[in-house]
Amino acid sequence: MIGVFDSGLGGLTVLRTLANRFPDVSFCYLGDHANVPYGNRPSEMIVELSRRGVEALFHRGARLVLLGCNTATAVAARRLQQNWLPGSGWVGYNLLGIVAPTVEAATQTPWAVTAPQYPQKFNSELVAVFGTTRTITSGVYREEIRKRCPRVEVLQQICANLAGAIEDEASHNELDGLVREGVTALVKQARGALPDRAILGCTHFPLVEDLFRAHLPPTTRMLSQPNIVADSLEDYLARRPHYLGGFHPQPRNLTMLTTGDAGEISSRARIFWADVPHFVSVEIGVGPETSTGA
Ligand code: DGL
Repeated sequence: MIGVFDSGLGGLTVLRTLANRFPDVSFCYLGDHANVPYGNRPSEMIVELSRRGVEALFHRGARLVLLGCNTATAVAARRLQQNWLPGSGWVGYNLLGIVAPTVEAATQTPWAVTAPQYPQKFNSELVAVFGTTRTITSGVYREEIRKRCPRVEVLQQICANLAGAIEDEASHNELDGLVREGVTALVKQARGALPDRAILGCTHFPLVEDLFRAHLPPTTRMLSQPNIVADSLEDYLARRPHYLGGFHPQPRNLTMLTTGDAGEISSRARIFWADVPHFVSVEIGVGPETSTGA
């Protein structure tokens, strides 16, 4: 079983792609709706909330947890992988983020290669990255892309309130206004140049991809993060099949957990994924883990 963690509903854009791509694999999803959105929170808090989420999924039997959240990945993934996991007692467990596969796709360069490679397919492009405050201020996309492709110009744009507005089911007009604001600010940064490619660097943003498409220049190609992450996970699991375990129940299990109200989250989630299974509420990180009903 594989765990997928997100601050709220955004990780569903990744999970639904993974669920289609791996029809025999069981997944356990945890949305930290009690604390969403993460994007404007202090870094230390994001690290701690992410650790609690990952650990809750380990406790449920996921040996591999994917942070289906750019903010958690940008701020916490490396720290948890390097500073927490090795001494945590979770031997044989692992966690992955979603920035690395996105950077690999944007640069056409494996993550392990950290120096410029020539010739580069995309070596003079202008890449736009949209994300939460914390993802963008971490600078991770710009830094990791330019490390591999120094001639690529990376313009980053904070969309501070967009993930929260998506979670709150803001009106189409409000969402459209927030996306337009972000794209306009980015175009201003570009001073007339048109972005060749755009990364929606927040897993909530594919839920308003049509609005980004409408406001970005028609020539800008959008990288689809859920598909990129699924491709990367497929490759990873082919090399490390032990994370799948030996037994695949038929039908496979899709377990949906939330730190929020299960009924409310289940109905909101259906707006984004019609067939999403019902959520179960859990409390995590405050004493022994408990389920509080469906
Ligand atoms: N969906 C998440 C991301 O990819 C986080 C959004 C938030 O909680 O602010 O960044």
